[in-house]
Amino acid sequence: MRIGLLNGGGDCPGLNAVTHGVTGAANSLGWEVLGFTDGFEGLLSPANYQILDPIKTTDIQKLGGTILGTTNRGRFSGKVGAGGVRKIPKELMDEAKANLKKLGVEALICVGGDGTLTTALQFSEEGFPIIGVPKTIDNDLSATAMTFGFDSATQVVVDALDRLHTTASSHKRVMILEVMGRHAGWIALYGGLGGGAEIILIPEIPFSYQKVAEAIDRLEAQGKTSTLIVVAEGAAPIGEEQIIEDAGDGGEHRLGGIGEQATKMIAKLSGRDTRSVTLGHLQRGGTPTSWDRVLATRFGVQAVNLIERKKFGRMVSYQRYHVGDVSIREAVESLNLVDPKGQVVETARAVGISFGD
Ligand code: F6P
Repeated sequence: MRIGLLNGGGDCPGLNAVTHGVTGAANSLGWEVLGFTDGFEGLLSPANYQILDPIKTTDIQKLGGTILGTTNRGRFSGKVGAGGVRKIPKELMDEAKANLKKLGVEALICVGGDGTLTTALQFSEEGFPIIGVPKTIDNDLSATAMTFGFDSATQVVVDALDRLHTTASSHKRVMILEVMGRHAGWIALYGGLGGGAEIILIPEIPFSYQKVAEAIDRLEAQGKTSTLIVVAEGAAPIGEEQIIEDAGDGGEHRLGGIGEQATKMIAKLSGRDTRSVTLGHLQRGGTPTSWDRVLATRFGVQAVNLIERKKFGRMVSYQRYHVGDVSIREAVESLNLVDPKGQVVETARAVGISFGD
């Protein structure tokens, strides 16, 4: 049997570990794996792929990025603007399916986030045998307790906060760290909680700059002379819109800029010396954590297992320490956002973290 594998959307630590898992499991069954280049684009004529074998994929689970390449823009973007679903033109779908047929590819594993899996769902509804694997640093996919890549991104935030802490306390400053996550505050919440931020601002809890300034005063009254604030790129003050950095060039809007806005406002209202850092793509680069390497490898192996059992239209899913599967549709129907009344937010509040609300 010949199967195909592609990565879509933004790169993410752990993508190569999925490739490692898929190739290893497929090889054990005597199957051949074609790794398509740059996401769905690699399916178009002339199809662009490499044949993956266990020698080629030895040790790649440690590498960041993706040996296959990926794209979060272009002709196969499943989500555009502020998360609107886009129908992929029929002629593109037909061309891709015809190429897969010509190559003898009997099933395709699509590794991606919300946008890629929305495109994958369209292939599946057209009758092509598809398996989805949930990838994203944002952790915003429903129907899986966790995506791979999130742990690695969170670790980068924690490392940055550890560094910012020493300079902030030396200068008695307010330090603001803007992090990724799009419409979800998971990276800010886990990064802030793990990295000792005093204030965390997330999209799910609209905040007030006045409340943030009051929280800084309270902290100072308790003896804290510096403050670390983590702000998610999608966070916004009460009644205001998220800041769009650019329109996304055929894909989803890119968010960003709230860190700088917050720096000006908080400096003005709190009267404190305030600086900001935007962590940006450092959160996506570099080697995956051990957790992400293992989770992604398990996801890759399970994807092959689903093909063997002919469970198409399904996405690999992590639930209660077990890797199972759910329908791709269920996974892309809504985003997995932070519950403002959930246990993690309550935990943060219990240890004195302010959400500026
Ligand atoms: O979805 C992953 C993500 O890194 C988001 O957190 C961020 O908003 C976006 O991708 C950035 O995309 P780009 O790589 O196009 O700048």
